[in-house]
Amino acid sequence: MQSKGKYYITTPIYYPSGRWHLGTCYTTVVCDALARFKRMDGFDVFYLTGTDEHGQKIENTAKALGRDVKEYLDAQIATLKDLWKLLGISYDKFIRTTDGYHEKAVQKIFTKLYEQGDIYKSEYEGWYCTPCESFWTKTQLVDGKCPDCGREVELTKEEAYFFRLSKYQDKLIELIENNPEFLQPKSRQNEMLNNFLRPGLQDLCVSRTSFKWGIEVPFDPKHVVYVWLDALTNYITALGYMGEDDSLFKKFWPAEIHMMGKEIVRFHSIIWPAILMALDIPLPKQIYGHGWLLLGSDKISKSKGNIIDPVELSARYSVDAVRYYLLREVPFGNDGMYTNRSFLTRRNADLVNSLGNLVSRTTAMVNQYFGGILPAPTQKDEAADGELIAIAEGLYEAVKENMDKLLVPEALAEIFKLVNRANKYIDETMPWALAKDEAQRERLATVLYNLIESIRIAAVMLTPFLIEAPQKILDCLSETVPQYFEGCVSFGVIKPGAQIKKADKLFDRIDVEKEIADIEKRLAEAEKAAQAKEEKKEPAAPVKAQITIDDFAKVELKVGKIVSAEKLAGSGKLLKFAVDIGGEVRTILSGIAKYYKPEETVGKSVVVVTNLAPAKLCGTVSEGMLLCAEDENGVVLLTPEKPVKSGGKIS
Ligand code: MSP
Repeated sequence: MQSKGKYYITTPIYYPSGRWHLGTCYTTVVCDALARFKRMDGFDVFYLTGTDEHGQKIENTAKALGRDVKEYLDAQIATLKDLWKLLGISYDKFIRTTDGYHEKAVQKIFTKLYEQGDIYKSEYEGWYCTPCESFWTKTQLVDGKCPDCGREVELTKEEAYFFRLSKYQDKLIELIENNPEFLQPKSRQNEMLNNFLRPGLQDLCVSRTSFKWGIEVPFDPKHVVYVWLDALTNYITALGYMGEDDSLFKKFWPAEIHMMGKEIVRFHSIIWPAILMALDIPLPKQIYGHGWLLLGSDKISKSKGNIIDPVELSARYSVDAVRYYLLREVPFGNDGMYTNRSFLTRRNADLVNSLGNLVSRTTAMVNQYFGGILPAPTQKDEAADGELIAIAEGLYEAVKENMDKLLVPEALAEIFKLVNRANKYIDETMPWALAKDEAQRERLATVLYNLIESIRIAAVMLTPFLIEAPQKILDCLSETVPQYFEGCVSFGVIKPGAQIKKADKLFDRIDVEKEIADIEKRLAEAEKAAQAKEEKKEPAAPVKAQITIDDFAKVELKVGKIVSAEKLAGSGKLLKFAVDIGGEVRTILSGIAKYYKPEETVGKSVVVVTNLAPAKLCGTVSEGMLLCAEDENGVVLLTPEKPVKSGGKIS
């Protein structure tokens, strides 16, 4: 089919936080429904998503886990991709900001902006936490302390590059005032104009020297590109902008829509167009800031067994139920409130009772009355059939109209209008009564044909929204999922004679009250278990102050050999050792009498602190210290892994 044009749609790139709950899936699922709809509607779609992988926080997290940063990220991204696969996210490209092509393109963009004067060098002032090596803005501090570790912070300056955001202020105001479609929904326009643009824009800090996990500024490598210039540009580097092959950029840019949650609209509607203006490339057609999925009385926490984990939700109630809930229940553009009750009730009402019931009743009747072969509609009745057929015939247009306005829940509501009308049609026409009267056989055939054809159209129109049910339904009608709407959304397409299989249960019915009681029970048990674990936990060891490598170098460590050992008279705890540290034998006391018999230690190689100031214990001077390790099983002497001569230096 001839393309109706191109459609480039993006989600924000996700932080690899590993905490992907139902809310985080919202943007990708909505974009997926839009992308799938546009593809079926004949557009050439490019759907981009990905991950935002640079910054100090990520570096710190990986280090705290003792992992290589890239390795840590690879594992996180694999999990995110698995989640998108589970939810049927049909992205065309997944960009990672650690991808080489993105890093190179960002360096070129940075250099270009610097050379043309849009980026300049100055000083950044912020609150610095020395142990975390992190800069914070005043608003990020918690009670004036580091939000990560809670320790004191210092007001510090560091050299940094700045993007001349202020230069674009007037153009940005004009853009938002004169192009109402650029920023949607409309409420976000006033927010941006009144809270940020009209009060005046400050230049934006776009580099840091306090951490390394970022893209190096090519002409000043002690700096890394900081956050938004790296993150936002993914929308063009993913298409090859400033890369080796920019054909996708030529084909798909500017984006039809950048979709995101409302908290990052500011960066997309102010910083991003300013960067594009500076690069002299066209602006995206629309920035859309959707609302948030809030949690009703449910706390969102995986560890507490809360089922707002999309993986668990999908496993228990099906992926389609999750997608349907996100697309249908959250008023697009506004916040939506998740509760287990609203999720389960919506699933039961629409998917089980309306859709599931319609399909199973109808396919069962075709099997019962016509041996599973679709009969021809030979006895039409305009008064009885007209409304159903009209809704089915007009469904594509009704859904399209809503999808074009990004009214996703409303688009789904249109499909369910048909499903509900078809259920009502069954009640009105009473096929089971017609079946009893041989004279009504043709009428029965027509009724069932009309129902099957309505089901087919509903299933086709549901294809962009759900990923399992439409296929199952169409399979029962011996139809395949079409690539395009064209040619399969008008009434009368399915041919009489088609084999109709009895539908298996599309969705299991769930007793909402019982399920909620069950969820609450599991939640309470998990909370109890978490509490018990917490109580059993030993208090965390106090964090010792960090030392520098120079501090560490002050400690002299040598390999020693225990020449003799005895209990120290007058002490139950101490053993007295004679230790050869290479041409010198030292007397060293150690409190390990509980763990070693003196004779077992003789001949052992040990680790000795040789420059410790001598100390007198129970009348004997100790001239050093033996290093030991301790756990719940006791204390052991540290010893070299392979034989080392006495006096061997440890570093
Ligand atoms: N990395 C930035 C975006 C940079 S774009 C150049 C970021 N990432 S994020 O992982 O925090 O968020 C990704 C998307 O998930 C955003 O659109 C965000 O609004 C969305 N959501 C996260 N929690 C959400 C809800 N509870 N509800 C709806 N969407 C939410 O921001």
